[in-house]
Amino acid sequence: MRKIKIGVLGCGQIAQIMHLPYLSASDEFSIYALCDVSVELMRAVGFEYGVPEERQYADFNQMLSNSDIEAVLICSKEHFTPVIAAAKAHKHIFVEKPFGFSLAQAEEMVRTADENHVKLMVGYMKVYDSGFEFVKRKIQEMNNISLVRVHDFGGSFAYTRDVFDIKKGNDVDPAFFDKGKAENNQMMLDGIGEENKEFLPAYSLLLGVSSHDLVLLRHAFGNDAEVLFTSVHNGSFVSSVIRFGDVECIFESGLVMKRAIWDENFSVYSDDVNLRIDFPWPYLKNAPSVVHVSENYGESSMPCETKISTSFSEAYRNEIHHFYDCIINDKEPITSGRDAVNDLKLMRDIIAAARR
Ligand SMILES: NC(=O)c1ccc[n+]([C@@H]2O[C@H](COP(=O)([O-])OP(=O)(O)OC[C@H]3O[C@@H](n4cnc5c(N)ncnc54)[C@H](O)[C@@H]3O)[C@@H](O)[C@H]2O)c1
Repeated sequence: MRKIKIGVLGCGQIAQIMHLPYLSASDEFSIYALCDVSVELMRAVGFEYGVPEERQYADFNQMLSNSDIEAVLICSKEHFTPVIAAAKAHKHIFVEKPFGFSLAQAEEMVRTADENHVKLMVGYMKVYDSGFEFVKRKIQEMNNISLVRVHDFGGSFAYTRDVFDIKKGNDVDPAFFDKGKAENNQMMLDGIGEENKEFLPAYSLLLGVSSHDLVLLRHAFGNDAEVLFTSVHNGSFVSSVIRFGDVECIFESGLVMKRAIWDENFSVYSDDVNLRIDFPWPYLKNAPSVVHVSENYGESSMPCETKISTSFSEAYRNEIHHFYDCIINDKEPITSGRDAVNDLKLMRDIIAAARR
C-alpha cells in the first residue's frame, strides 16, 4: 500500500486528539511534516510523532515548497489562506471546518482546487458516522415525513484537558492570536454584511458546531433548502425553520458554556416511523451514536422501540480513510469543498432570515 506523505498545519487540540493519532496509526499516510506558529508546541508534537526538525516549519508556505509532500491537513483557525496556497502548490487538501468564513471564500477555494486538479475535502466527520449512515438509509424508507428536528446544544470544551494530555506552547505573543481573531471576525462580517453585525456571534456558531448538523440535514434531505424563519436569542442561540423540499425542519443550536454537557440529536417523524440519533460528545473516541427507532408492531398500531448502536468505528478515523481513497482512486470526497459551499449558502440564508 502506498503511503501518502502528509503535512499538518496546526498542532493544536483537534490535531493532537484526533487527526495525528489516526494518521500515525494508519498504513495510508505518513506524517511527513508539521507546521505551527508555536515552535515549542511543534517540537513537542514532532518528537511524539517522529517528525524530524528539518521537516517542522513555522511558515506554511515553506512547508508547501517541500515537493515530497503530497497532501496537507489544515487544522489552524483560518482556512481560506492556507487552502488557496496549498491548492496552488498542487497538494491535496483535507481542511477542518469551517469551510471559510463566507460563501465567496468557499467558492474561491473550490475554484482554485479545481484549477489545480487537487482533492479538497472538508472535515465533517459526522457524515462518516455509521449511525448517521444508518439513519440516512432508514429515511429513504420512511413515508410522509411530517417533521424533522435538529437540536445541538454544545457544552464547554474546558474539560477536554481533564480527559487528554494536550501539549501547549508558550512562545507566541498573544497579540498574534488576537490579531487573527479580529481578522477572522472581519471576514465573517464580510460574509453576512455589515447590516447583520448584531448576528455575528450567531453566524460564528453556525460556522462552528452547527455546521456539523447543517451538513447532515443536506445529506439526508438534499440541497433544496429554504429558510422560513430564524430567531437569535441571548446572542448566540439560533432557532430556525428550514424547508428541504417537502420536509420541514426545526433547527435549534447553541452553546451552553458553563456546563460540561453535550446535547445533540437529530429526529425524524413520519406516518409509520419515528427516528432519533443521539450524538455523544465528539471527542469521546469510539462512543457510538445511538439510534432510536419506533415503528408499529406488526399489523397493529402499537409502537415497538429499538435502540441501535451500529458500530464502534470512529468517525474521525473513517474520514481519514475516505480522504486516502479519494486521492488514490481519484474520487470526489463525499464532503467535498463543492458540497460544503451549500452549507455556507444555508448559513447566509439563516442569518438573512433572522428577526429583528
Ligand atoms: N471537526 C471537528 O469536530 C472539530 C473539532 C475541533 C476543532 N475543529 C476545527 O479545527 C480547527 C483547529 O481547532 P483547534 O481546537 O485544534 O484549535 P487550536 O487553537 O487548539 O489549534 C490551532 C493551532 O494552529 C496554530 N496556528 C494558528 N495560526 C497559525 C498560522 N498562521 N500558522 C501556523 N500555525 C498556526 C496554533 O498555534 C495552534 O497550535 C478550527 O478551525 C476548528 O473549527 C474541528
